[in-house]
Order: sequence, then structure tokens, then C-alpha cells
Amino acid sequence: MTDLDTVRRAPSPPATTDANGRGPTQEFALPPLDGGEPDQDGLANPLRAGLQLDRVPTPCVMVIFGVSGDLTGRKLMPSLYDLAVGHPLPEGFSIVGVSHRDWSDDQFRAEMRESVVGAARTPVTDEGWELFARGLSYVRGDFNDPRTYATLRERLDAVDRERRAGGNRLFYLATSPSFYVPIIQHLGACGIAQRQDLYADPNESWHRVVIEKPFGHDLPSARALIGEVAAVFSERQIYRIDHYLGKETVQNVLAFRFANILFEPVWNRQYVDHVQITAAEAIGVEGRGGYYEGAGALKDMVQSHMLQLLTMVAMEPPAFFNGNAVRDEKVKLLRSVVAPRGADVVTRTVRGQYGPGFVGGRPVPSYREERGVNPESRTETYAALKLEIDNWRWGGVPFYLRTGKALPRRVTEIAIEFKRVPHLMFQGAGEQELSPNLLTLRIQPDEGIALRFAAKVPGAKTRLRTVRMDFLYGASFGEAGPDAYERLLLDAMLGDPTLFARRDEVETAWALMQPLLDVWGAPDSPVPLHVYEAGSWGPDEADALIERDGRTWRRP
Ligand code: BG6
Repeated sequence: MTDLDTVRRAPSPPATTDANGRGPTQEFALPPLDGGEPDQDGLANPLRAGLQLDRVPTPCVMVIFGVSGDLTGRKLMPSLYDLAVGHPLPEGFSIVGVSHRDWSDDQFRAEMRESVVGAARTPVTDEGWELFARGLSYVRGDFNDPRTYATLRERLDAVDRERRAGGNRLFYLATSPSFYVPIIQHLGACGIAQRQDLYADPNESWHRVVIEKPFGHDLPSARALIGEVAAVFSERQIYRIDHYLGKETVQNVLAFRFANILFEPVWNRQYVDHVQITAAEAIGVEGRGGYYEGAGALKDMVQSHMLQLLTMVAMEPPAFFNGNAVRDEKVKLLRSVVAPRGADVVTRTVRGQYGPGFVGGRPVPSYREERGVNPESRTETYAALKLEIDNWRWGGVPFYLRTGKALPRRVTEIAIEFKRVPHLMFQGAGEQELSPNLLTLRIQPDEGIALRFAAKVPGAKTRLRTVRMDFLYGASFGEAGPDAYERLLLDAMLGDPTLFARRDEVETAWALMQPLLDVWGAPDSPVPLHVYEAGSWGPDEADALIERDGRTWRRP
């Protein structure tokens, strides 16, 4: 079979104690956005209260490596500003940015202001910015040069003296992954970061490190990275970010499943026919071709975000909502996932790459024409696969996952399709058109939950039709929740690891994907790379993957 051969045609009140139970902390709060605004009927909406991130961490200095990069500008700085405006950060909270750019402190602040104005949820005022910017300072340096860390050390001492940050440090690696190990080694070698194990004195200042995905690019490199980081920091100091876990609607999957009695009894092989997890993006690689070329959809989305969604929907109920209880269950689930390997990879996986087309009426060049992409690239921008879970709850229930770029629209959802009733007594009532019950957990956009069921059409005759019951997050809670990074940054400052990936979780996720990566990556791989037109729902072969089992993809 030739690859690149099949082209598919086309058809978004402060708490006063910290997480460690330490005494009252001083706070500084920028003017709140719309805290406690009454609703139109004059009553405060009680549901909004739950949206407040009302925990206040101890003072700390956040050191951002790679502060001139895209992640800091698009996500970190805007989220920190929003956090400071909406939810008090402690007095003394400071940020030291590190990068190679030749900036003064003032230039650094001006650059950051621009990013915040462009991307924060909260409108930036002079007063608000002034208060926030007092805590910002900059260190210029090469991440491989020990002198950078000597300068950083002096700066941190000065910030501690001036702003009484108490020696607490949150190191954030927002750099290219190739700098993770050198930065961590330098932090350890020059004594800026100290190892703190489980029995560390809780009254001592804390040091934590936040690492962005990708955590390695395959199983061996992930293991090597885990080892290098563990040589300097203990696991309890390491916060591996998968920003999907910070999304309100992803956390709501757990609330939906485990705070309601209704659904869990049918959440198993007896009632569920299959599950579809979709993460469709309308955007292409948006100038990140250099990074994406070495990643592709499987590593960029499936190994990380989509497996996180899978664990949320399929894991057993943890006994507590805390770091180890939740992550133990996630790891147990991942260990029972059966991913395609060997010959199965050919029948259970599909990969594609977008060609030219139109998305939302705009012309989109082919992936191979994007900046930083090899004109003969074989990197996939679309992946679909069928997984199974070998345990008592899910034995025999297929989980279909698909993700792609340059698809018709942005939508991330988990759809649980239930089995049909064993016997339908309404003969001749339009039963042929009835679709089975379907529960859709919409992660983004139009966040919410929908249930499809059969209803009687009003009238003297008995006729049935499929109808939908909708819960819309925005309509019930009245305001958009915080950005994923707000929640995760706050949790890292508070020392709550529940929404971060633990070492064994990362390792198990890579172990699961490795056989598939091996087959896809082989020079004579039997799995073709299909071209799909930008603006279509991906290669036809992805339809065939699920249709072979007598099912079809949802058109969300
Ligand atoms: C990132 C990937 O982790 O997640 C990107 O590297 C992808 O390629 C992004 O676009 C999707 O995140 P979100 O929050 O927009 O769904």
C-alpha cells in the first residue's frame, strides 16, 4: 500500500491559613473583577461561590525559566495576573523571570504587561498592574552557564529581604524540554534548590519545581528525565503539569461520577456499549512547527491529555480527593489499558496529516507548508485508535480516541453510549429511528453535560423520538471559571499535587504508547499516513476503524 495516498474531501474572602495549616497569612488583593455581583433578580447566585479559589498560599518567589517564551506570554503571566486580581496571593509573592533576552527589569515588566493585556481574563488597570509589577524582576542568562545561577541566587536573596518571601521557591520550567535537565542540575549544584523529602521540617521554607509536558519523547527518555529530576528533587517537590487536569470541566467528570448516586451503577460493561473521546482542534500548528515535527498528535495529545481524560472517565472511585488516592486509581486504570501492539496497530490505529483546505472559511496551507516543518514530513496531525480496558468494570467495552488539527471546529468531549434496551414494547412507534442513550461530557467549548433519551411525541398516537436534556455550565454558574493554569499554579504554590502527573503515571502512559510508537515510527511502517483535507473530520480510514465494529463517530 502506498501512503499519503488517500485524500479526504471536506464537507472553539480570602482564607487566612495556608495549605499546611500555618497561621494567618497577610494578603494583598487587587480589585476583584465582579466578586459577589448580584444576579438580575437581586440575589447573589450561590453557585458562584464554588468558583472562588479561596485558598491563600504562603509567600513565595516564582522563578520562571524561559520567561520570554510563548508559554509565559500566553498562559503563565496572564494567569498569574488573573489570580492576583481575583483571588488574593500572599503579600511578598514575587516573580523572577530568567531568559537569554537582553532586558532590564523595566523592559521585562513592559513586555509582561503587553502579554497580560493581550491574554488575561481581567482588564488591566494602571493601579492593578502597578501592584502586580512591584513583584517582577528579571535575570538575564544562559541556562547552561553556572554564572546565571550565581546571579539568580543573589537576586533571590535580595527579593527575600525586600519582600519577605521567606525562602519559598517555585521553579517553573517554561523552556524547551532540552533545557530541563541542565537547569535542574544547576539548581541542585549551586544549592538554590534543596531536596526535601517526606519528613522535611514543615516549618522550613519549601522548594518545588513545575515541569511542563512533554515529559520525555518516549519511554526511555521519560525514564531518564524522571531519574535526572529525582537526583535533585524528591517526588513530593515535583509538579508535572498536564493543563487538561486544570480545566474545570475535566475536574467535573469526577464530581459528576462520584458526587451523584445516579450514574455510577450504570457506568460499566453491563450498560455501556462504548466510549468515544474526541479532542478536535480547528487550528493548525500555529508557528510551533519546530516542536510539533518531533512530536505529532500521538505524543502531543494522546499520550498526555487524552489518556488523562480516559483515566477520569474510567478509573475506580478513590476513597479521598487527595494527591495519592486519586493518582493511585489513575495508575491502576492505566495499567489495565490494552493499547494496540504488533499486528493490531494496523487494524486499531489510523494516522493522518492535513493537506490544504479551508477551516471556517479561511484557506489553510498543508501541514508540510507550515513554518518549521519538513516539506516531506511524516509527522501525523491526526490520530485515531481503539483501546480496551482489561478489568471487571470495562472488559469488552471499546474506548475510541481521536484527535486532530485543522478539523472543522474545536471540540473536546467524552461520549458514553449505552446499550439498547433488551426489549422494546413500542412496535411501530418510530422505534427504528431511536438512538441509544448517550451521555456527553462536553469539556470545551460550550462546557456542559447532555443526556440523550427516548420520549413520547405528544399526541393520541404512541410515537417515540430521541430528545436531549442539557446542562450548560455557563447558564448555571453564571461566569467563566478560571483558566486551567490559574488553578494549577495556585495548587503548586499551595503544595497540592492532586491535579499533577505522578512519576508512575507518566511512566505507565509512555509504556502504554511505546509499542504503537515503535510501529508508527518504523521506516517501513505498515500503518499508512493518510492525507486529509484541512477542514474535514480526518481521514476516511478513521471512519472505517469504528465502522468495522458496527459503530460510527459522533459528529459533535
Ligand atoms: C497542548 C498541545 O498541550 O495542548 C497543543 O501541545 C494543543 O498542540 C493544546 O493545541 C490543546 O490545548 P487546549 O487547552 O486548547 O485544548
